[in-house]
Amino acid sequence: MCGIVGTIGKKDTLPFLLEGLGRLEYRGYDSAGVAVLSGNEIHIRKSVGGVSQLVQTVNEQPLRGSPGISHTRWATHGEVTEENAHPHLDASGRLALVHNGVVENHKHLREELIGRGHVFRSQTDTEVLAHLIGEAFDQNSERNRPALIHAMQETLRHVRGTYAIAIIHADLGEFLAAARSGSPLVLGIGKDAQFIASDAVALDGWVDDVIYMKDQDIAALDGESFHLATVSGSAASPPKLRKIELEARATGKGRFAHHMLKEIHEQPETLREAMKGRLDLEEATARFTGLHRSNEQLRDLKRIILTGCGTTFHAALTGEYLIESLARIPVECDYASEFRYRNAPIDPETAVFAMSQSGETADTLAALRESKRKGALTFGICNNVFSTISRESEGGIGLRAGVEIGVAATKTFTSELVILSMLGLMLGRIRDLSHSDGEEVIENLQSLPDLVARTLECNDLIAGIAAKYSKTRNFLFMGRQANFPIALEGALKMKEITYIPATGYPSAELKHGVIALINEETPSIVLAPQDDVFEKNISNIEEIKARRGPVIALGTHGDSTLRSLCDETILLPAAPVFLTPFLNTIVLQLLAYHTAVALGCNVDKPRNLAKSVTVE
Ligand code: G6P
Repeated sequence: MCGIVGTIGKKDTLPFLLEGLGRLEYRGYDSAGVAVLSGNEIHIRKSVGGVSQLVQTVNEQPLRGSPGISHTRWATHGEVTEENAHPHLDASGRLALVHNGVVENHKHLREELIGRGHVFRSQTDTEVLAHLIGEAFDQNSERNRPALIHAMQETLRHVRGTYAIAIIHADLGEFLAAARSGSPLVLGIGKDAQFIASDAVALDGWVDDVIYMKDQDIAALDGESFHLATVSGSAASPPKLRKIELEARATGKGRFAHHMLKEIHEQPETLREAMKGRLDLEEATARFTGLHRSNEQLRDLKRIILTGCGTTFHAALTGEYLIESLARIPVECDYASEFRYRNAPIDPETAVFAMSQSGETADTLAALRESKRKGALTFGICNNVFSTISRESEGGIGLRAGVEIGVAATKTFTSELVILSMLGLMLGRIRDLSHSDGEEVIENLQSLPDLVARTLECNDLIAGIAAKYSKTRNFLFMGRQANFPIALEGALKMKEITYIPATGYPSAELKHGVIALINEETPSIVLAPQDDVFEKNISNIEEIKARRGPVIALGTHGDSTLRSLCDETILLPAAPVFLTPFLNTIVLQLLAYHTAVALGCNVDKPRNLAKSVTVE
């Protein structure tokens, strides 16, 4: 989703602005632009397509100056055109603004502005902000830096929706202002330059100290010092300077062709990292210091709600099986976008876990806030522990998966699964789970990284199957129990990066409609490990084969039934039942990846997708 990068203080801001935008490419975008103050004029360059196109434009028509702001746009209002790309100017052409978020009442505000004679150059909601702030500034006789902050306060109080914005003004020289509400923004504080960005990844190597802005904060930067104010005019809380996270640093592809493939192969390590120091063999339990709750308090919980979006929602669904079986506590899962408006009954004996890789997903953040308002205990499960969701939750658990650049989530999904398994263990051990059962869970979890590493050895087999079926026009994915959400996730991965329609469902639902889709051209991917429902899955496979549907089965080493029945068989290391979702996930990630490669798709930046969806 849109990315913002800005800086002030360097003579030439372009190298940082362009490099920063490049590092935010993973967020997903379709056009890019940059504005710098040169002399006392603002100069803008924009281009449709990748940051490389913008670099080319800037090479052809060079820019130099400070301060500068830049942006990658993921279209929400108006098509993908240069006119709609940011930065946008106000009516005077002296103020330039970039925005991440959505101004929900933009139509009304635009009509009012048109009534006052404003002419718009784009179809975006963002341009309304530029015009409103510019107008408020021009009406103030002072026309100085405090006047711009005042104009921002006046305007932003009337804005409904979400925003992170950055502004430069030709009349104010070395001055850069920024504000946020609902969309992330981080300040980089250097000795002779200051920076802003949507994600600290863009700041690595340029500064050591960062400040994560809070909702309603306004920042004023002059290259040497900074000042924080708020939209309401009340005093801002004192800024917390933090060292830039080391994890923001590992952003290369290494020996892999794509970030996604690299991240798939990192999973033995990321799983180990997620468990490090959290498993207690002596007490046969798991510990999360970030939950800030005693065992007594957690024992009082009567219900758990797991909420999230996309891939993370599928992790939540898998968590329902894992936690209920280990801890015998009712677990409910809800899409954050539904949960926030559902008016679900919530009480202090309910714990809501807002799950989000980025920690910035707008719907998940809203679900968290709604749960808090209604008195639930709220926890975040996030990869970015400095994200808004992490900061606004009462306690939380970090995924420790490192930065995930591939837009399609992979390693963060399995990290979410392992965190939920450990959460089930911990909650189980303060309820009914015996010491010996707890020990067994720990031993099994400790074997997981190695099982995943051995599953990755199927890479070439999977690549061959992917190439063979890459011209398929429709895939079906099915599984049972905790492998049912994995089927959903497998189908989502396939859709996201190959654009092939794919549907996931519980195997038993085959007869209730999906069977109508079975024919010689529609492959079914069946997750059939050796577990209690293996025979049931075999019956489903028989039903598919009876209708000549090709079957790609994922089973367990040594299985001969699947081999004799199915067109393709991928046999995985024998594993405890609750770990089979992890291994099946690896296979489905690789299957989607190799299919996308065979089709020549842009694996790391699939069309229309954004890594972090910060608008509703
Ligand atoms: C977007 C991404 C998905 C991700 C979802 C939730 O749709 O493209 O890959 O699963 O957001 O993201 P989150 O950061 O909240 O886990």
